[in-house]
Amino acid sequence: MAEKPSIAIGQVMENRSVAPGHFLLTIRLPLSFATPIPGQFVMIRDPDRDEPLLPRPISVYGFQREDGHAILNLLCRVAGRGTSLFSRLNSGSTLTVLGPLGRGFTIDPDVRQILLVAGGVGAAPLAFLLQECVFSKPHSAKRQVTAYLGAGTAELLTGLNRFEGFCNLRTATDDGSCGYHGNVTEMLALDLGEYDAKSTLILACGPMAMIRSLDLLLRDTRIRCQVSLEERMACGVGACLGCVVAIKEGEGRNGYRRVCHDGPVFDIGEIHWNPPVEG
Ligand SMILES: Cc1cc2nc3c(=O)[nH]c(=O)nc-3n(C[C@H](O)[C@H](O)[C@H](O)COP(=O)(O)OP(=O)(O)OC[C@H]3O[C@@H](n4cnc5c(N)ncnc54)[C@H](O)[C@@H]3O)c2cc1C
Ligand code: FES
Repeated sequence: MAEKPSIAIGQVMENRSVAPGHFLLTIRLPLSFATPIPGQFVMIRDPDRDEPLLPRPISVYGFQREDGHAILNLLCRVAGRGTSLFSRLNSGSTLTVLGPLGRGFTIDPDVRQILLVAGGVGAAPLAFLLQECVFSKPHSAKRQVTAYLGAGTAELLTGLNRFEGFCNLRTATDDGSCGYHGNVTEMLALDLGEYDAKSTLILACGPMAMIRSLDLLLRDTRIRCQVSLEERMACGVGACLGCVVAIKEGEGRNGYRRVCHDGPVFDIGEIHWNPPVEG
């Protein structure tokens, strides 16, 4: 059960570059900050600047409590103004942190094989899931976990250390510098026949193109799959409707859902890739 989100002023303890254009933020928060569920995210902004005005959504990469504080880890890729600004924050800087937000991943008790599929910094929520759910819950001993991680090059496979030694690991790079030469969905396609559809669950996060090709790959299988979507967000709490995606509601009906409030995690079969244009 998700705890109620709160807003807090966090203090940057460490801001470390982990690859070109990628950085790892460690933020100290009050002990009262709610415990996140893997797949949930926070909205962060620099309270000392007017620009950018809107906070940015970032998935929880790590969370623990120690020495009277909560410690939050965020793995970020510089995409534009907001993330560029965050990449330059020094230790001691403050950030407004709203969260944890959204609906995270859920793992049914009958799942025996978990496949984590990530593209780029999509590895962040899955690393948190591996840490929190798979190894700390009673069903975990009976479960096999295999992570399929993809990135452009070997050095962009960020967060690898959070998977190595904790699960079976397969890597793919576009330039072939580490693991399979090609994209992560192509690599998964080669193995897919080995998994029993009834007891396998895929949890995925990455660029929309990856999610789309995963949907095509799984269409003729009965393998369950949950995906975390990344839409542009303004409020992060379901109020502005800025992040809606088209959803299949069954029996030929379609609807819209707010990624921030109803997601970011959805069953892949719910996503409507070509919604009819109304007019
Ligand atoms: C639920 C959720 C979790 C996320 N988790 C992470 C994470 O763990 N690590 C991380 O690095 N990023 C994550 N993102 C993406 C991150 O929020 C965006 O990269 C960021 O908001 C871009 O802000 P900006 O000011 O740097 O870029 P802007 O200047 O606002 O935009 C720069 C470019 O990025 C694109 N963009 C903006 N927002 C998004 C978005 N939400 N998704 C995809 N493209 C976007 C714009 O279209 C534009 O092309 C997450 C997004 C969501 C919705
Ligand atoms: S960002 Fe405002 S409703 Fe989702």
